[in-house]
Amino acid sequence: MPVIHYQGYQISCEPGENLRKALLSFPAPLYNGMSEYLNCRGLGSCGTCAVWIKGISNKKTFMEKWRLKFPPHRGRTDFRLACQVRVWGDLEIVKGEGFWGHKEPVEKRKINESQNQP
Ligand code: FES
Repeated sequence: MPVIHYQGYQISCEPGENLRKALLSFPAPLYNGMSEYLNCRGLGSCGTCAVWIKGISNKKTFMEKWRLKFPPHRGRTDFRLACQVRVWGDLEIVKGEGFWGHKEPVEKRKINESQNQP
């Protein structure tokens, strides 16, 4: 079973499980501030579930590609929308700062550094 690592917590889930649903079971919040209430509930239209992921998942969905064309995500190819992600292997998740989680946190830099190491 895939294991999701998020903010110091680890949770196992079924292969193919929706990442947003899995993260909502974590003690750590997926949404920042008021976006906990002002989100599209997984339709892929609001962009507030944006995260960086490292691991095995599905390719970006049509809705995900569409939403990521608009601010504040426009031009960022490294974001994923948790509600559009299927978990197919162990995943390391980093949530950014800000309403949409679009501001790069320190943990994201650590993931980048680990990916650049041989
Ligand atoms: S919850 Fe709105 S885009 Fe994911």
